[in-house]
Amino acid sequence: MKGIILAGGLGSRLYPLTKITNKHLLPVYDRPMIYYPIQTLVRAGIRDVMIVTGGNWAGDFLRLLGNGKDVGLDHIHYGYQEGEGGIAAALSIAEHFAEGDKVAVVLGDNIIEDDISRSVQKFMKQPEGARILLKKVPDPERFGVAALNGKKISAIEEKPKRPKSHYAVTGFYMYDSKVFDIIRTLKPSGRGELEITDVNNAYLAKGHLGYDFLRGYWTDAGTFESLFRANSLVARKKQKTKKGV
Ligand code: DAU
Repeated sequence: MKGIILAGGLGSRLYPLTKITNKHLLPVYDRPMIYYPIQTLVRAGIRDVMIVTGGNWAGDFLRLLGNGKDVGLDHIHYGYQEGEGGIAAALSIAEHFAEGDKVAVVLGDNIIEDDISRSVQKFMKQPEGARILLKKVPDPERFGVAALNGKKISAIEEKPKRPKSHYAVTGFYMYDSKVFDIIRTLKPSGRGELEITDVNNAYLAKGHLGYDFLRGYWTDAGTFESLFRANSLVARKKQKTKKGV
């Protein structure tokens, strides 16, 4: 399975940190943010990866990552998103790279402690459809939120004012090759973006959306608070590992 990291967007919620660089090149403890989604894929055995970025600093990704060997990748490809049309719009740029394979997609600002290999293996056995990862959070209104009816997802809402559960849809998604046809049917949302939540709801409507719960910590890093949290979580983990705790 191929991997796609979405690292476009303007990072406007982190201004002025993002005035002279791309959000995904900012530090999270001892490494640039983009290293973490790369590590998530590499740990799960996915080493053929496209990074979709945009804006004025796309060249810095090439300077940082080169041919990808130093960060554990076999092959690295770069895609360029014009403007900020949303997560699904960024994903559509990778259609040619996917070549009809299943894909694992991770948002460039998601920091995932868990090893997601088991979910990847489950998805490889899933005949078709999509698979997402959920995480219980105290502030679900900041995310896509999955309402659960027993063990089934009944609906996913993007940043609902009154969330129906505490289960956030994390920024790690696996899709079959139909994802690109689904994206072509989407209309921009109220915030003018092609939403990944609409993609997931299209799979849900067909009964083809599987899910697992993420273990360990998970956070995005796209706001001052969450970037600070990401730094603290990683720092704490590294210090514990050093002490052998
Ligand atoms: O972090 C998980 C959440 O990510 C999900 O729960 C939400 O359902 C999903 O919509 C998304 O929410 P955000 O509003 O926090 O996404 P944000 O606009 O911050 O974009 C997240 C990453 O996606 C960003 O780091 C880079 C990539 N992206 C985003 C946009 C808007 C692109 O590559 N291109 C884009 O145009």
